[in-house]
Amino acid sequence: MTKVSAARKRFLSGIQPSGKLHLGNYFGAIKQHIALQSEGTSLYFIADYHALTTVQDPKAMREYVRDVALDYLALGLDPEQAIFFRHSDVPEVTELAWILGTVTNMGLLERAVSYKEKIDKGIEASVGLFTYPVLMAADILIYRSHVVPVGRDQVQHIEMTADMAGKFNRAYGDIFPIPTYRLDQGAKVPGIDGQKMSKSYGNTIEIFAEGKPLRKTVMSVVTDSTSVADPKDPEKCTVFALYGLFACEEEKAALAVRYRAGGMGYGEAKQALLEKIDQFFGPAREKRKQLAADPGYVEDVLRAGARRARAEAQETMALVREAVGFNPRPVG
Ligand code: ADP
Ligand code: TRP
Repeated sequence: MTKVSAARKRFLSGIQPSGKLHLGNYFGAIKQHIALQSEGTSLYFIADYHALTTVQDPKAMREYVRDVALDYLALGLDPEQAIFFRHSDVPEVTELAWILGTVTNMGLLERAVSYKEKIDKGIEASVGLFTYPVLMAADILIYRSHVVPVGRDQVQHIEMTADMAGKFNRAYGDIFPIPTYRLDQGAKVPGIDGQKMSKSYGNTIEIFAEGKPLRKTVMSVVTDSTSVADPKDPEKCTVFALYGLFACEEEKAALAVRYRAGGMGYGEAKQALLEKIDQFFGPAREKRKQLAADPGYVEDVLRAGARRARAEAQETMALVREAVGFNPRPVG
């Protein structure tokens, strides 16, 4: 692990524009992204190159990118502090991915759990999906990042990145810091069916859902068949786990007492959860509506972020190209 002073730490993370963002994305990733923006240099990007492995409709791609950008900005991302940009605006990263691929063992990629899970779910086993961890390593290393705040499902990818950085450094000299991951309180948020919440499992509670659709989703969280009168185990209940993401310790303890005492139906717990969601995301919903009303705003933010990110990426690529025996910069 590279030792750097907290003030100079570089945080980097990406999020795929492959559907509506949900509570798992928020409590696993976005919340820490926003909290860290004042603690060092933060770079966050919308991973559209990655999303091509599942989204092959240009109109949907553009919409999802805009949606993710609006979501982040409404949730508190400050584009003056963090460098916030679109992956495909920094094409140098695909060049680094190629170079890293030449120091990546096939066996390393073959052990990727996320690849296997995705093909089990019916996503096409393309070369892009298989080499996804190499592009992800390039994302992290091209900004010489130190810390990658993510949810638990991404840990293996960060470990693979550390492996690739080590191999590159041993072959060509110390260019990359060895990155480490950072998990938050909601490292694995359950979905409404109790499995990991994920866009691709259709079990999400969307951050920006509201009104009737939100109520319908919350009321459909799967619970066991214990009757209203009987005591219930809060530790085994998805509603309770979700409530715990929003509530303070006292509120959690109070609800746990009611579970154990019996006499409370799951409907009441769901209602408490719904109120928490409304309270917590209410202000962000309003802010999102305001931001969405200005058609040029998102594009301006992403372009300004890309200019800053690209300058950093080009600087690293000059070092990398020189180290491997190329011209530092491509002939212009
Ligand atoms: P999804 O699985 O919904 O497609 P992504 O793969 O785009 O989500 O993940 C974006 C970020 O959100 C990653 O850092 C990931 O670890 C985090 N994340 C996704 N789902 C969850 C979850 N259920 N619990 C915690 N973090 C999550
Ligand atoms: N693979 C990540 C996900 O599905 C998204 C991502 C792409 C990412 N590049 C990254 C996350 C670099 C952290 C760092 O969630």
